[in-house]
Amino acid sequence: MRREASARESGFAPEDPGFVADPYLVYAELRERAPILYDEVTDHWLVSRHRDVNGLLRDRRFGRTYHHMASHADMGRPEEPSEQAPFWHLIRSGILDMEPPDHTRVRKLVSNAFTPRMVEGLRGRIQTMTEALVDGVAGAGEVDLMKAIAEPLPVAVIAEMLGIPQSDRRLLRPWSAEICLMYELNPPEEYARRAVAASLEFSEYLRALSRERRERPADDLISALAEVLVEGDSLTEDELIGTCVLLLNAGHEATVNVTGNGWWALFRNPDQLSLLRTDPSLVPRAVEELMRYDTPLQMFERWVLTDSEICGVPVPKGAELGLLFGSANRDPDVFDRPDELNLAREHNPHLSFGAGIHFCLGAPLARLELEISFSTVLRRLPRMELVAEPRWKPGYIIRGLEELRVTC
Ligand code: HEM
Repeated sequence: MRREASARESGFAPEDPGFVADPYLVYAELRERAPILYDEVTDHWLVSRHRDVNGLLRDRRFGRTYHHMASHADMGRPEEPSEQAPFWHLIRSGILDMEPPDHTRVRKLVSNAFTPRMVEGLRGRIQTMTEALVDGVAGAGEVDLMKAIAEPLPVAVIAEMLGIPQSDRRLLRPWSAEICLMYELNPPEEYARRAVAASLEFSEYLRALSRERRERPADDLISALAEVLVEGDSLTEDELIGTCVLLLNAGHEATVNVTGNGWWALFRNPDQLSLLRTDPSLVPRAVEELMRYDTPLQMFERWVLTDSEICGVPVPKGAELGLLFGSANRDPDVFDRPDELNLAREHNPHLSFGAGIHFCLGAPLARLELEISFSTVLRRLPRMELVAEPRWKPGYIIRGLEELRVTC
């Protein structure tokens, strides 16, 4: 394939609000045209088909990071500006940006908190929190569902699991939002400055809290991790902080958008919404379908760690892959009538939680939160209606609604 064959010719334009609002026709063209296409604007090799995205996520020749084995220069990449060091240090101290053996060691320590059994133990508490949020909007007339329920619930759940004091929780979402700006493609200088400032404040906050918990342990995840720190060298303090930041960010950004994108999809498909209202037992399956139909995290990246051939195309070491989850989830080779929302869909191997060693650690928790949130809103607000077509946030990678105005 010639390098000039570009994804732009098919309409790939993540900086364009029109594309962000509905990228799915462009994805169909990308899948049709070639399994891998270069995008010269973002300098990514885009992979659009389900089989390939799934395979590449599991292939160790491609990494979330290359720092375990190579320098920027070895990979032919520029040095990072030194003023961004606090941000990158924080991100690389969390398991999502580690590779084995560090990844294996730290993931094992954290994963105990996310076993299906541990998560199921949170059901009652999550239900209570959801009921309280719905109490706040029931009969209130017009509200923004994002601000009222979609955003506060997952933040509250992960904050409580970690043991962040109630009075500090209002700090979390702004910090997380500033840090997540850097996950977008080619972030401008201003985003980097904001992300660095948030990284410094967030790290200092967690450093102080974890030291306090080491002195006076409580029944929460920060205390459990701080204890591992004291007992041996299996977790460094920076890894503890990086992983807590990751849990706080990953623990709610996507869940917020499944709720918003999901309700917007239901409003656009009234037959499916009434099906769900008549048969709430469909909710767990509906959650999977809503995650497939309008994927909250549209693209994840991988570094090419060694010269490789991908779908017959030579891709050099140091190149960056853009794995298009949103496209893989609409691949007609895997999903029957992929552009239809079918809440009763049985065969649904969507990739929204990823695959391979970085498969979402919080998937059981996300599923439980979403199941409780959708069922409670369906039950308690049976006449909830859409007021106006929502606006999308500009972000493409973390893709979600600015607001979703409804009457309750
Ligand atoms: C619907 C909501 C969610 C979605 C769609 C989602 C999606 C993902 C995806 C796609 C990855 C892998 C990224 C990659 O391979 O590059 C991931 C990793 C991760 N997620 Fe989630 N996530 C969600 C909710 C959560 C929650 C609630 C938590 C925790 C409280 C969480 C914690 C994590 C962690 C810690 C990782 C890193 C795992 C590793 O690197 O081993 N996520 N998530």
